[in-house]
Amino acid sequence: MTKHLITSALPYVNGLPHLGHLVGCLLPSDVYARYLRQKGEQVLLVCGTDDHGTSSEVGAIKEGINVRDYCKKYHDRQAALYEGFNLSFDYFGQTSSEQNKEIVYRIFHDLEKNGLIEERTTNQVYSIDEDRYLPDSYVIGTCPHCGYDKAKGDQCENCTKLLDPTDLINPRSSISGSTNIEIRPTKHLFLQLPKMQKELENWIETKRGIWPDIAYTTAKKWLKEGLKERGITRDLKWGFAVPRNGFENKVFYVWFDAPIGYIGITKQWADMDKDNRNWEDWWLNAPDVRHTEFMGKDNIPFHSITFPATLRGSREAWTEVSFLKGFNYLNFAGGKFSKSAQRGIFLDAALEEFPADYWRYWLMANAPESDDSSFSFELFASVINKDLNDVLGNFINRVLKMTFNNFGEQVPPMGDLTEDETALYETVDELVASYTSYLDGLEFRKAMAALRELFVAGNNYIAKTEPWKAAKTDKARAGTILNTALNLIYLYANLSAPIMPQTAEKMLDVLNKPANFVWPNEKAESFLKTLKAGDKINPSDPLFSKITPERQEELRAKYKETE
Ligand code: 2FM
Ligand code: ZN
Repeated sequence: MTKHLITSALPYVNGLPHLGHLVGCLLPSDVYARYLRQKGEQVLLVCGTDDHGTSSEVGAIKEGINVRDYCKKYHDRQAALYEGFNLSFDYFGQTSSEQNKEIVYRIFHDLEKNGLIEERTTNQVYSIDEDRYLPDSYVIGTCPHCGYDKAKGDQCENCTKLLDPTDLINPRSSISGSTNIEIRPTKHLFLQLPKMQKELENWIETKRGIWPDIAYTTAKKWLKEGLKERGITRDLKWGFAVPRNGFENKVFYVWFDAPIGYIGITKQWADMDKDNRNWEDWWLNAPDVRHTEFMGKDNIPFHSITFPATLRGSREAWTEVSFLKGFNYLNFAGGKFSKSAQRGIFLDAALEEFPADYWRYWLMANAPESDDSSFSFELFASVINKDLNDVLGNFINRVLKMTFNNFGEQVPPMGDLTEDETALYETVDELVASYTSYLDGLEFRKAMAALRELFVAGNNYIAKTEPWKAAKTDKARAGTILNTALNLIYLYANLSAPIMPQTAEKMLDVLNKPANFVWPNEKAESFLKTLKAGDKINPSDPLFSKITPERQEELRAKYKETE
């Protein structure tokens, strides 16, 4: 049986995750994993923080703490946020772990052995007072093209021109502000991607028409430009030391060890329960594993070219990506997400404003799949108010109320079926089939449209059959309708569970069922008879509440949406 390995891009440890990160990799990986688990598939979902790099080193200096403690602090903070959103990672690890180091060295030595690593001398900016090399982006100065005085040494944020640090006028260290800097030669190791060009072209060709367009075309574009050798080491203290003479005081580049981190994190997970778990079952000589990766579009080149080349170049049978799900960006109506300008919604704030499921539902329904998409509180409120409150929420409230009023706290008996039920079964069968096939194909927006249609179908059913009238004239008929409608709630709970796990649990709670979700493999005609006459049902408060225009106005001001 196929085993599903699912990975979400590993967020930088000191980044501030916002809605864009959630929808661009973390949340869809969780939805997909929950869906497959519910179908009874074997799933391993791993994620963790991407710990290395200059920004962690600099962040730790600023806070006056050891960089390892710094990473642990922010790792734990992120892990807590993701728990708040009910992301069901089997393990949320760290790329700086000993386990990852072991695997990074193993792969590096294989690459060396296979002639894919070469030394080069490059010139780099050195800050004399700080006694450190500066990555290009940590050198700032005046842009020679537009005069912007905080242009970074790799690119001017103002006019977007690509720069070399030596282009900058009045260059200085962005860490200390020191202008006492010079260019020094330094030795680095380079992965020989050009030697693997042909092999990667052939491999990527097998993904045509299979991977989403954005993933396939990005990979093709890189290949077309011709692969260049890539530096895999840096002059930094924080990172995995480079195991080669003459490379003391150098570490591996963060983008070399980050994707290997998926393997390292799997090993962290396995080490927690050595008797029952084995990381190699997922990563080495494991043809039964299907690996699905989730990421934002900026990460695609690393995952479709550099990382596969790293694994292939080792000439060991590592698990490769089977399906690469890339996302466009989610924009915020007020402009770029910026913590310092307090603009946009960061995950800690999001959880303070609304339940996780509101966000999960909205984000999946508006996932930036074929294009960038935009968040605004008006759009958010309109979806929550309509889909969740008016359509799903009202259906549940009305059905429960009519049942309690006419039959007490139990499922009424099911009598003879009419063509209304037959029509409902047909619609449900069609929609469940499309919902399932869209989830299989990771087409989330389409899947969400099918789910919404299912909620609508329930409303249409009671609008047509009018159980409130039947209750007065033909109680048996009212019982049949409400029995069917309660079973629809049971169906909705199961189908919504990957998207809104907490709400789905509440729905099961109302139906007095344990939180044990199933996927409806049977036809509606039999699935919608799961709850039987006499089964207990429980009173509940409404599951959703509307977001008023006043509240929307407040939120717009608070998060600077209109600026
Ligand atoms: O863009 C980012 O947030 C990177 N930290 C993603 C790394 S994904 C994987 F390679 F670790
Ligand atoms: Zn400029």
